[in-house]
Amino acid sequence: MIPFVNLTGQREKYRFELEKAEQAVLDSGCFIGGPQVEALEKELSDYLDGRHVQTCASGTDALTIALMTLGLQPEDEVIVPDFTFIAPAECVAFLGATPVFADIDRETLQISPESVRSLIGPKTKGIIAVDLFGQCAPFEELREIADEHGLWIIEDAAQAFGATVLDAGNLRKACTFGDISITSFYPSKPLGCYGDGGALFTARKDLADKMRMIANHGSSGRYCHEIIGINSRLDALQAAVLRVKLGHLAEELPVRQQNAQNYDRFFTEFNRSAPDGQKILLQKIASGNTSTYAQYTALAENRDSFIGKLKQAEIPYSIHYPMPLHKQPCFSRGNEQLCPNAEWASEHVISLPVCAFTDAAGITNKLKQVFR
Ligand SMILES: Cc1ncc(COP(=O)(O)O)c(C=O)c1O
Repeated sequence: MIPFVNLTGQREKYRFELEKAEQAVLDSGCFIGGPQVEALEKELSDYLDGRHVQTCASGTDALTIALMTLGLQPEDEVIVPDFTFIAPAECVAFLGATPVFADIDRETLQISPESVRSLIGPKTKGIIAVDLFGQCAPFEELREIADEHGLWIIEDAAQAFGATVLDAGNLRKACTFGDISITSFYPSKPLGCYGDGGALFTARKDLADKMRMIANHGSSGRYCHEIIGINSRLDALQAAVLRVKLGHLAEELPVRQQNAQNYDRFFTEFNRSAPDGQKILLQKIASGNTSTYAQYTALAENRDSFIGKLKQAEIPYSIHYPMPLHKQPCFSRGNEQLCPNAEWASEHVISLPVCAFTDAAGITNKLKQVFR
């Protein structure tokens, strides 16, 4: 069976480097913090043009730490996209504040700036913009709105480490657009470790100092706790694995993109002869953007029928995400919000394997056979 994310194929390719790095950590006796974590933070900072970096235990923790750093209070509201993984909304609610759900753009599937604008009220403190499926959110417009209303932006780049945007002639990387940006190192992410892990990024020294304290029990020095924090650490073994994989990211991203183009070509050709109601619509990548393709997600007009074909061809698939967040049981009570594009997307999205160790050409050949 084809794996949805081929982590064993990836490990096979980097086995020598990974085993050497893992063994060095095991032999060092230093498992939390220490040189591997410091080296990774330095390498991530170099990758992101000198941003301050704080690693932590997961992408979810990174979001929580970011919200705590920005001083979120229980009476506050934060605008989050309605169509994404639950973590951004969950972290706002976990801290006692209220997530307000914005609709998405029907073509790019990213948070819609018009919807964000319409939801701003006296309690709104900020926006969490998710770089969904590996493409950056529309930050130029979001930043204009945020500046106009005195809001902060958290960039949730859990799926997009390595994505780029052409910004006034310069390539700008994901994880540089938020007042605080975060990522996840969950194993299947474009840059993933062998357990849970995450990181926060900021250009502001004051925020960097505060988020470092919060991730370390609110401490400014050994046994001196200035503020209430949490314990959220990336361990040395994960840091060592990430350093090896970061070294290969520049080779892997173009392969992910070629795999995605392979599917794009197949579905474009397929749509020429497919009857209405059976077409596979592509997620639009905005001009000047590159996506990391955390997964390849398209929209099937008739998803059940398409799933039937995938099953017949033994091609794995996944549905990211089957329900808009405002309809999740934990948020739905008394929630009358309408996000028609998020609802439409959740009824049609379907994701295919796309990682750098996926045989996308083999998969499109299988598709050709079942659609013949
Ligand atoms: C958009 C988004 N935000 C946050 C997270 C949370 O990351 P983690 O699983 O590392 O806690 C995820 C994980 O899938 C995600 O996709």
